[in-house]
Amino acid sequence: MSRTVVITGGTNGIGLALARHYSERGDQVIAIGSSRAGHDRLRREAPLARFDRADLSSVKQANELIDRLRSTYPAIDVLVLAAFRYQLSRGETDEGFERTFALYVVNRWLMSRALRPALERADAPVVLDLCGVGGIRTGEIHWDDLQLERGYRPFKATMQGARAAELLAAAYAADPIRYVLYNPLFVATGLFEPFRQPVRGLVRVASALFAQPVSKAILPMTALIDSPPAAPLSAYVRGRPIAFTPDPAAARRLDAVIRDLVSPLAA
Ligand SMILES: NC(=O)c1ccc[n+]([C@@H]2O[C@H](COP(=O)([O-])OP(=O)(O)OC[C@H]3O[C@@H](n4cnc5c(N)ncnc54)[C@H](OP(=O)(O)O)[C@@H]3O)[C@@H](O)[C@H]2O)c1
Repeated sequence: MSRTVVITGGTNGIGLALARHYSERGDQVIAIGSSRAGHDRLRREAPLARFDRADLSSVKQANELIDRLRSTYPAIDVLVLAAFRYQLSRGETDEGFERTFALYVVNRWLMSRALRPALERADAPVVLDLCGVGGIRTGEIHWDDLQLERGYRPFKATMQGARAAELLAAAYAADPIRYVLYNPLFVATGLFEPFRQPVRGLVRVASALFAQPVSKAILPMTALIDSPPAAPLSAYVRGRPIAFTPDPAAARRLDAVIRDLVSPLAA
């Protein structure tokens, strides 16, 4: 049976490979990206997938996208959260959010929460959240400086996003939706693109030498989407299940903080 698969970041790397896989299988795929280049890539590499353009670091644009999705697709079977960009220096969106926080934390919170009713109408709904779960333990929530106005570092922002993904998933997970946190480790994608030379070239070479090809990396992900885990919340590192114990109080606290930040921007 054909399913509806929504993929944020579906125009490059892992998201694009999933868009190609599911559209070729006959599913209805909606791939979201912010750029014209991504749209062109999707047309070339996954021509059966639909494209919807939105800058997901903008709450306004994300809300407009959500309205379009909700009115066109009453039921959504699969939501893949793969939009990400490594921010070398600190910048803010027009709405005043630090850019990594806006895309990695706020947008994932918004997409999963706003599309919950559509997901609940599907037979076996799955959210696959690509993130740094189970990664380096230095990641922490900077409660007194979530926007990292003091001492921004790209890795610090990324690891805060990874930790936030765990907490927000814990606050969200409930039947009938299966929420799967998934860290693919090192995959050969467009991840070198934000870097400046010579680092860009080095990351590209390291990626070619050491990273897993995307076609191989998505196999455990499609297995999880097609046969979802029994538990409402689970976490995997490169296909291997991992135990993780997010603090429920911190999960509720972060969920409430993001809601308070997003609510004033509601359409
Ligand atoms: N690759 C790895 O080694 C690795 C390791 C661990 C975790 N991950 C996770 O896996 C996911 C996918 O990574 P990837 O390496 O496949 O990424 P990628 O190749 O860099 O692709 C990123 C995608 O996100 C989209 N995107 C970026 N900024 C956006 C914005 N503001 N609004 C809408 N879309 C936006 C891009 O489209 P546009 O450019 O058109 O906006 C593109 O489709 C990410 O969540 C990442 O954290 C990857």
